[in-house]
Amino acid sequence: MKPFLKWAGNKYRIIEHIQKVLPKGKRLVEPFVGAAAVFLNTDYDSYLLTDNNADLIQLFQVLQQEGASFIEFARAFFTPESNQEAIYYQNRTLFNQTTDPRLKAALFLYMNKHGYNGLCRYNQQGEFNVPFGRHTQAYFPEEEMLFFYEKAQRAEFATADFVAVMENGRSGDIFYCDPPYVPLSETANFTSYSSDKFTLAQQAQLAQLAVKLSERGIPVILSNHDTPFTRQSYTEAEIHAFPVRRTISRNGSNRGKAKELLAVFTPRPKKSSQTSGGWAAKSGNTLEKTVIGTLSSKGFETVMYRQWQKDPDQFGSELLLRNVPYTTIYGHPGNTEFLLRSAHYRLELRIECKWQQSAGSVDEKFPYLYLNAVEAMPEKEIIIIVDGGGAKPGAVQWLRQTSHANRYRTPNTLGKQISVMNLTEFLAWANKTFR
Ligand SMILES: C[S@@+](CC[C@H](N)C(=O)[O-])C[C@H]1O[C@@H](n2cnc3c(N)ncnc32)[C@H](O)[C@@H]1O
Repeated sequence: MKPFLKWAGNKYRIIEHIQKVLPKGKRLVEPFVGAAAVFLNTDYDSYLLTDNNADLIQLFQVLQQEGASFIEFARAFFTPESNQEAIYYQNRTLFNQTTDPRLKAALFLYMNKHGYNGLCRYNQQGEFNVPFGRHTQAYFPEEEMLFFYEKAQRAEFATADFVAVMENGRSGDIFYCDPPYVPLSETANFTSYSSDKFTLAQQAQLAQLAVKLSERGIPVILSNHDTPFTRQSYTEAEIHAFPVRRTISRNGSNRGKAKELLAVFTPRPKKSSQTSGGWAAKSGNTLEKTVIGTLSSKGFETVMYRQWQKDPDQFGSELLLRNVPYTTIYGHPGNTEFLLRSAHYRLELRIECKWQQSAGSVDEKFPYLYLNAVEAMPEKEIIIIVDGGGAKPGAVQWLRQTSHANRYRTPNTLGKQISVMNLTEFLAWANKTFR
């Protein structure tokens, strides 16, 4: 059955691929439920369906509770008169003002069918701002809503961020995760994509949470574009890739060209070397893997620093060296994740990765890290990648402002270039620098 809403990234077209890889289980959990194509086309005893779009979830809840009476109420907005520009904007204003759940739910459905291309967008004030769609006629999805209503009796709906939902997975659950797509690699504009509010750091965090759940015996299936970034992020999963014809594309030239994948994380025992915590090694690994994946797709060979140091002539001139030592401001041995050496681009650039996923005291190390970059690391160019979303408010800002303003420099160290980036900015930088 088709979803009753038009929704970007709706998986109805690839449902057969998904059905094939979904294992049996008691409850299907969808942390990015969207229009719920997977819920509608599978058969589990129960469902937990969540999304961070509160208007979407409210519509599902009202339909779940009221069924036919809500369908009749919503139908009243589907008249030839209401398919006019002026009426659409009146209704859109009403939607943004009302707090009545039933009216708001009906208007959300109305705008999905009368607004431009079924888009769902909000301005900075949180107001729905999609323009009028100029459809000749708006389809009222009565049959689809009735089907949804009946099936929804087995479901629980909640507005939530995916992190909370995944952290609360329980034995017997199957997770199907369908986040907003990562950009289509080379041509995509990473910076503008991150303004869509789902960053590459969140994509990396999602991959980590999938591994964590699979270690707790809970299978996770993840959907995304098939790109070097996703391949790199999902190395612990089995990958099923297939071509897909796209209908909604922000970039016309991408129509018909996308490849998608399903990453299947099957339950497996936890590796004993893995730890958890503020600067979690596992999460850090994802950050490192992403840096390695990105730079190897740009032609850099990854080599351990020690191995290279023993016999540099054995290797080429375009290298990403790992585990690179230096002597800290305290005179102790320290190291950073990478040194990027390139004869072609005339680079000798040190890269330090810091990932903090949950709140902790570790961001107090930023001043130490910065002073090491200024005084102790020998290279003239240093990039500090900080991501994970768990740093204290103000900490990353301090690090960015301090490096931008060249604070705490002496005349000897003023020539150094120290840049602070998040993962998205780093990928944009790499795409721009190594075309
Ligand atoms: C690709 S769509 C899901 C499509 C869905 N599988 C379907 O078939 O219709 C991605 C969804 O993720 C939701 N989303 C974005 N960021 C989120 C977050 N941080 N936590 C939970 N949901 C999020 C969006 O509201 C959107 O509905």
